[in-house]
Amino acid sequence: MSKKILVTGGMGYIGSHTVVELQKSGYRAVILDNLSNSQPGILELITRITGVKPEFVNLDMTNQQGLNAFFHNHPDIKGVIHFAAYKAVGESVEKPLMYYHNNLGSLVNLLACMQEHPAASHLVFSSSCTVYGQPENLPVDEQAPVVPAISPYGNTKQISEEIIEDTCRSNALLTAISLRYFNPIGAHESGLLGELPLGVPNNLVPYITQTAIGKRNKLTIFGNDYNTPDGTCIRDYIHVSDLARAHVVAMERMLKKDNKKAHEVFNLGTGTGYSVLEAVQSFERSAGVKLNWGFSARRPGDVEKVWADTQFANEELGWKAEKGLDEMMSTAWSWEVNLNEGLMG
Ligand code: NAD
Ligand code: UFG
Repeated sequence: MSKKILVTGGMGYIGSHTVVELQKSGYRAVILDNLSNSQPGILELITRITGVKPEFVNLDMTNQQGLNAFFHNHPDIKGVIHFAAYKAVGESVEKPLMYYHNNLGSLVNLLACMQEHPAASHLVFSSSCTVYGQPENLPVDEQAPVVPAISPYGNTKQISEEIIEDTCRSNALLTAISLRYFNPIGAHESGLLGELPLGVPNNLVPYITQTAIGKRNKLTIFGNDYNTPDGTCIRDYIHVSDLARAHVVAMERMLKKDNKKAHEVFNLGTGTGYSVLEAVQSFERSAGVKLNWGFSARRPGDVEKVWADTQFANEELGWKAEKGLDEMMSTAWSWEVNLNEGLMG
């Protein structure tokens, strides 16, 4: 019988791609999600891609009793990949308590349940390169200092890593891997899964695809006076399916007891930085669409440039990102076109 893995937030952008990768690798996935930032139709799309319908439980992870009952009813779960969280940086500045309650409350409840039910003793956690702020040295490796967060959202990632570290230290059975994502973009190669931003997107790629399809008038590029070759910010964009695959590899590492420490931390990026202008050019090239765009002032809180040192993940996890920027853009475009044609109703 294949191993069962719990995917919290599995109806969301990265979670749904990870469920696909888990099922492709022979695992059974059970999704726990309260649909606060996702739609029930995702389940059918995962089923269309993989031929297997994952179990889905609609539950808010801040509900401690409900989560306990869930673990009680699923004694065969061997590990947890924890995506469930709120993720809008700007909203977290306006509503910090909502972010601390949801992101930290869910994690604390989850760890308490994992302590109660030690059969499920391996955790993969979604962290972010935001913990590095603007690094002094690039590419940034996992030894770089974690700097004070500029948003409550970023702070929840830092505090979550600390909560996981402390809990692993106090519990000999628990192991965890925190994955610090750089900029996940793109969509499943089938065009059936992708990012589903509610309202006006904050992130670059959904803004690009929505502009190209005609939902937005114009892309605003925030700042052209940065200390970079073309003056726009540089990021390490990584295809969401490459990222999803890393979660399966991380879980396998713990299941096989290959982990070297109770709590390990890995960067997940490609190791290459691209500017906003290069990202726009890649989109125009791979989608074959001209984009309406213009410059404006810098967006407060943006770091100038960041890209990952991927050596540790490449060598220790045996994982490497494979897809390039053009493929990230072309899959994001296919997804937007499918959405526009009514894929999600
Ligand atoms: P997403 O919003 O698409 O997915 C998160 C899912 O969690 C949603 O389906 C939502 O309904 C669910 N959820 C939220 N709170 C919940 C709760 N209390 N109980 C149950 N379900 C809940 O986000 P995503 O882009 O897939 O991100 C997944 C994780 O990765 C998050 O933790 C996010 O902070 C982290 N992350 C994302 C990025 C990014 O750029 N997308 C970058 C770094 C880290
Ligand atoms: N950008 C624009 N116009 C837009 C949107 C974005 O020019 O309409 C630029 C930003 O200024 C930035 C780049 O595109 O230079 C990437 O911006 P995103 O919002 O797509 O991504 P960020 O790097 O700002 O944020 C991501 C995640 C956050 C995480 C952060 C850590 O979305 O969750 O990385 O650095 F906190």
